[in-house]
Amino acid sequence: MPPQNHGSIASRSIKVAPSILSADFTKLGDEIASISSADGLHFDVMDGLFVPNITVGLPVLESVRRCTDMKLDVHLMICSPLRYTARFAKAGADLVVFHVEAETYDNTIAAIEEIHNLGKKVGLSVKPGTPAEALLPFVDALDHILVMTVEPGFGGQKFISGMLQKISELSNVVDSRGLNCEIGVDGGINRDTAQRCINAGANLLVAGNHIFSSHDRAARISELRIEN
Ligand code: DX5
Ligand code: ZN
Repeated sequence: MPPQNHGSIASRSIKVAPSILSADFTKLGDEIASISSADGLHFDVMDGLFVPNITVGLPVLESVRRCTDMKLDVHLMICSPLRYTARFAKAGADLVVFHVEAETYDNTIAAIEEIHNLGKKVGLSVKPGTPAEALLPFVDALDHILVMTVEPGFGGQKFISGMLQKISELSNVVDSRGLNCEIGVDGGINRDTAQRCINAGANLLVAGNHIFSSHDRAARISELRIEN
C-alpha cells in the first residue's frame, strides 16, 4: 500500500512554488510575472561544494525582491549555511531553507534562532539519503520541512519514489505533535508525482521544469493544486 498521511488531507490547502532554476535568466522579470498566480517563488542557491552546481546569490535575490511581492522561499544548498542565513533573510527572503546535512547541531539551532529573530520563516531540507530522524531534534522550531525528491543540484531530474515514505513519516510527526509546519517536496514534481506526494502528506510543491517548460504556466500551477 502506498504511504498515506494520517492527517486530514481535505482540510489542507496545497501550495505551489515554481523553482527559478528552470526560468530564462535573460528575462527574469517576465518569467516571474508569468508565474505570479503561484503561492511563492522558490529561489535555489548552490555553491558548487554542497552540490556540484553553482547558481545565483544575494544580488539576484535583491533584484528579484524589488520586482515582485511574491513570497520568496530561498533554498540554500551551500556548506556551513549559518555564514549566510542572516544575509539572505535581510536580502528579501520570506522563508530561508537550509540543509540539515550542511551544519552542526549548534549552528543549526543558532541559524533557526537568527532567522526567526529577523522576522522570517525557517525551514530545513533533507537530501534523499538522509533519514527523517535527522530532522526530529529541530522539528518543533521549524515553519517548513523540505524533502528533496531528487538529489539536489540540478533541475529536470526524475522523482525518487522511495521518498514518499519519508514524506509520510514527517507528516505524521508534524500532525502528532500538532505543529504548524509545512511539508514541501522538491524535485521531479509533475501532476502524477505531486498527487503521490500530497497523498503522503506534502502540502507545498516545488516545481521547476514542469511549470517553466509550458507556455501556459498559470494552468500548470492550478493543475498541480488540484487533488484528484
Ligand atoms: C534541485 C532544486 C530544485 C529544482 C527542481 O536541486 O532544489 O528546486 O529546481 O526542479 P525540477 O522541478 O525541474 O525537478
Ligand atoms: Zn530547490
